[in-house]
Amino acid sequence: MNDTGRTNDSASAKYDFLLENARLVTMVPGTNGYQVLDAHLYLRDGKIAAISQHRLDTSVTDVLDCQGKLVTPGFIDSHTHLIYAGNRANEFEMRLNGVPYQTIAQQGGGILATVKATRLASQQQLTEQALLRLDGLINSGVTSVEIKSGYGLTLSDELKMLRAAKALENHRQIRVSTTLLAAHAVPPEFKNQAERYIDLVCEEIIPAAASESLADSVDVFCESIGFSTAQTERVFQAAQQHGLAVKGHTEQLSNLGGSALTARYNGLSADHIEYLDEAGVIAMANSGTVANLLPGAFYFLRETQKPPIELLRQYKVPMAIASDINPGTSPFADLTMMMNMGCTLFNLTPEETLRGVTCHAASALGVGNNRGQIEIGFDADLAIWDVEHPAEFSYLQGVKRLYARLIQGAVSYA
Ligand code: NIG
Ligand code: FE
Repeated sequence: MNDTGRTNDSASAKYDFLLENARLVTMVPGTNGYQVLDAHLYLRDGKIAAISQHRLDTSVTDVLDCQGKLVTPGFIDSHTHLIYAGNRANEFEMRLNGVPYQTIAQQGGGILATVKATRLASQQQLTEQALLRLDGLINSGVTSVEIKSGYGLTLSDELKMLRAAKALENHRQIRVSTTLLAAHAVPPEFKNQAERYIDLVCEEIIPAAASESLADSVDVFCESIGFSTAQTERVFQAAQQHGLAVKGHTEQLSNLGGSALTARYNGLSADHIEYLDEAGVIAMANSGTVANLLPGAFYFLRETQKPPIELLRQYKVPMAIASDINPGTSPFADLTMMMNMGCTLFNLTPEETLRGVTCHAASALGVGNNRGQIEIGFDADLAIWDVEHPAEFSYLQGVKRLYARLIQGAVSYA
């Protein structure tokens, strides 16, 4: 930035909002290290219109004095299962008594226990029960959240979950993007008939979600206790036929090659990826598929196999980091805590985790050209913090540091 700052405006341009005396952490990719600018930020129509170290000649009256507070892009939680009923504290106890996660799943617990509870809940109950968890994410600076279905596993229950997720926008200032995860587990009524269930997913559930505009993308749990790569590919094909982007729960518990498959379908992200190998990393690098790291599930399942962070760095695969909040493997409604875990468990740097919840998380949602950076023309989705240095997001946990959030220029105070 030069002395007078940057705008994309003609001289007659008007601004409708000014954030003055801000310390902007821009998170623009390509910058080496943190780019922190002492500047004034001018907004127009919910977008960033000018960044200037000097006051611009403008009549803007709507002014928020940031008093030197740190301003980041609003955080983006790019992988959650926020909508569900019940909880699985009992299974947590079973696992600590020695029963593995896979065994609990094979015995009808795990995902299917949550399916039972979620089918019994109404759409409104699902929305209400998710609000408490959403508030946890919001308090950690989240302005956009991805939410998956996957605990309904019938046409009507999957759509119910997606509607419940979208309805959160009526209760809180938040942006929700929805993902159809009908291929999360084989439902009990299709026991030993996974192919027939995939028929239902491809022929009925995906078309219905697409025609009602209830899903932005489609996800599959590609795993021995989920679906094979061949079944995953069928789902990806159906998704693409209906104009929906794809992503995968891949290489979480074993290496089936699901991430490379996701990359072949130009997937937005491959998520978990603890067992990803070099060929998978290269495939993701070539397709621009984001590596979505989920340290909460790694931690809570007490896994030991870590994602191949060094390879991901080497091949320049963008890394996002997300909460994966769900009742079975990641009961954590706090995104900065995941940033801390990303550093302590996966050896990420605080800068990498901050990219992981801003610019790279935006790419994981397919909105990387509009969100996740403080840059001219981007949406004014921002978080304002009582924080001195950006490394602190990954460091101190459990104290209130959020001052305010903005979504498309509209402010809500913490
Ligand atoms: O992201 N891996 C599959 N899905 C979830 C777990 C869901 C559950 O156990 O309820 C995950 O870890
Ligand atoms: Fe997940």
